[in-house]
Formats: sequence, C-alpha cells, structure tokens
Amino acid sequence: MSTAVRLPANTVETLQPEIARFDVERIRADFPILEEKIRGRELVYLDNAATSQKPKPVIDAIVRYYERDNANIHRGVHYLSERATEEYEMARKVVQSFLGAAHSNEIIFLRSTTEAINLVAQTYGRKHVGPGDEVLITAMEHHSNIVPWQLLCEEKQAKLRVAPINDDGELILDEFERLLGPRTRIVAVGHVSNALGTLNPVAIIAKMAHARNIPVLVDGAQAVPRLSVNVQAIDCDFYAFSGHKAYGPTGIGVLYGKASLLESMPPYQGGGDMISSVTFEKTIYNKVPHKFEAGTPDMSGAVGLRAAIEYLNQIGMDNIAAHEHELLAYATETVSDLPGVRVVGTAREKAGVLSFAMEGIHPHDIGTILDQEGIAIRTGHHCAQPVMERFGVDATARASFGLYNTKAEIDALVRGIQKVREVFD
Ligand SMILES: Cc1ncc(COP(=O)(O)O)c(C=O)c1O
Repeated sequence: MSTAVRLPANTVETLQPEIARFDVERIRADFPILEEKIRGRELVYLDNAATSQKPKPVIDAIVRYYERDNANIHRGVHYLSERATEEYEMARKVVQSFLGAAHSNEIIFLRSTTEAINLVAQTYGRKHVGPGDEVLITAMEHHSNIVPWQLLCEEKQAKLRVAPINDDGELILDEFERLLGPRTRIVAVGHVSNALGTLNPVAIIAKMAHARNIPVLVDGAQAVPRLSVNVQAIDCDFYAFSGHKAYGPTGIGVLYGKASLLESMPPYQGGGDMISSVTFEKTIYNKVPHKFEAGTPDMSGAVGLRAAIEYLNQIGMDNIAAHEHELLAYATETVSDLPGVRVVGTAREKAGVLSFAMEGIHPHDIGTILDQEGIAIRTGHHCAQPVMERFGVDATARASFGLYNTKAEIDALVRGIQKVREVFD
C-alpha cells in the first residue's frame, strides 16, 4: 500500500535558487558527530525530531564559556559575574530577535518545551481555569502538550477538549472553531506535529481564539528548527521550544509570553533570583522574566543556544525550510512507492517528519535492522499515543530530517527499508 503526500505544487522549483546557495557538504563539515562510524558504517542520522546534532560553533561556545567566562550571574559585582550576566542576557536578546518578539523580557529561559508548557498550565492555567471551564488542545499533540493540561483540569475539575484531525492528519478547523466555547480558557496547539509532520495554521488558530478573547499557546518544539517563526506575526500569547532540537544544547528551553500576560501571572517556582525582596512575612517578586527563572539558570546552555541561533541565522531559516521541504518531498515519494509501506501523516502542509508503517513488520524491527546499516530513525509512539490510536497503529517508524541531511541519505534509508522487507519475506 502506498500513500502520496500532497505537497504544494512547484514549491521545490520556486525555491531552487535558495537551495543552490545551500551548501549541505559545507554544513555537514560543521557537525563532528557526522564523521562517526556506526557499526563500521557512515552514520545516517534521521532522528532529528528527537534531538538534533550540534555544530562546532555551539560546542566551541560552551567550552569557551566554561574556560573563560563562567561565574554565577545577576548576583555578583565581580568582573566574571558581570561578564557571565552579559552573555546570558545577550542570549535572551538573540532569542527575542530570532522569534520576532517585541521585548527581551518576554523571553524566559527554562529547561525545555515541557517545562515551558507546565509553567503556563501551572501559573496562567491555575489562575484562570476553574470548575466547568475548558482547555482546548488538538488530537495531534505530544504528551508534553496533553498531560500538563490534564493535571490542571483534574485539579480544577475542568474539561480537556480535543479538536479532531482528519485521515491525512490535518486539524479539522471547523470542528476546532466549534469547540471554542464560552468556557474555553486557553488553547494549546502544536505548530508542527512530531508524529505526523503536520504544519498547523497557527496564525488562523490564534485569530479564531482571539475573536473570543481566548489566549493561545503554541508548542514550537518541532517548528523552530525547521521554519522561520515570528511570534508577533502568529500573534500567539505563548510560544515554547527546546534548544536541543534546534542544534543547541540540552537543558535549555524557551517560553515566549506576551509581556502583559507574563506580568499578570503568579510565579512558577520559588527560589533565588525570582525575588526582589524576602522577609518571613512577605516576598516581593522580581520583574519578568526573572520572576519565572528561580535559582541558578543554565548559563552555558543559554550561551550554546545563542551560538545555535546565530549559526541558523547565518544559513537562513528560509533556506533550511526549503532544503528540508525538498528532502521531505523526495523521501515521501520514494518511501511511499515501496510495496507494503504506508505513510502515516499525509497533510498538505508538512515539515521535516516522515512517519511510516510496514505491513506485518513491527516498527521496532524496522529500527533495529536499519541500525545495523548505521541509519538512526525513531520507532515507537513518539510520545503521541492518541495519534497512534487515531491511525490504528501501536507505533510507527519515523525518519525526521535536519539541515545536514542529504538525498543520498534518503536513498540509504530506502535501501534499508528494502532490506527490512527481504529479512521478513
Ligand atoms: C511537538 C513536541 N512538543 C514537545 C516536545 C517535548 O520536548 P522536550 O522533551 O525537549 O521538552 C517534543 C519532543 O519531542 C515535541 O516533539
């Protein structure tokens, strides 16, 4: 069985001039891990949706930070503390400009997308969601954008409503709009689905929700590494992403929030740096963003994230999006032509992710055989079990692309899948 993905006609052709400037071999040379031999073979890394590999400028920035700049920030008057503070706050400005945010105080450094969504659920959510109220998500969310809302709804006796998706894995917008009711207190939606690759029309979603004065959180974990994102153009209220999926280090993530909302929200965790004064009787909180950054933050992570963003900016997010679009179109065509392969997630608008199933073969077996060939893909439910249920599978095999992947690597994937078939025939 094969399924064709409907990618917009001529998109690749119209983007050709940009791709021509995109020198993938030069980019690959920036990623030391791509030289690793895996089981004696060239590494073909197609697990970018789980985490991306890191370019040398990011690795170097972290090493340089620890060798030359390290001190605790914000609290010291000594030279190194001031320098580390400057580095950390400069990283915030770089993220602000990368996301197109209006102010740097709208950028909160956290551990990850997961922590960012939990923060909004536990602060904005706990303040505004009460018994009988509703939180609206979609049927294609990652567990990180489901469970924090379930916890909130359970605590507040509120209802989690789920907007359905069609057989291609696209959000059914009419149904979504119908679910925006008088009790909806917040909408939380993924920008790009990690399990299906679907690119959601988040600006339209925000418009629909704002027409009813409902704020919108966008989970940008899979979008930020792949697309040019502008939070003001989307007009979302919150936007979350993780550094490690965007060629930056692990341990650092970002929550963007509109300043007026962040200012009105109670703090998330208590501790150092999030206060302006403490007595046993009363604590006065620091201003945003510091109010939400309790304790010593991940300074080297922020420095590494800045280096990652500067690296991405140098290449150009539009060029990266075009390159990945071309890879996805090629992979979709070649993989779905293989006998017995079904692509799961055939939305018209997709980014960087190709999930598939093979008749009679468990995805874990696919992953294990591909691993023998040095090809890293992910198999399982991808932390999106409701999506698996929607498509009637326990798991899928998922190839996800990054800026350093090539068509030759997709050819290797196709040969690997053919080998899987031979083993099982
Ligand atoms: C769409 C999406 N949201 C959220 C997450 C959670 O990211 P993290 O584990 O970095 O918090 C992921 C990770 O795979 C994801 O793909």
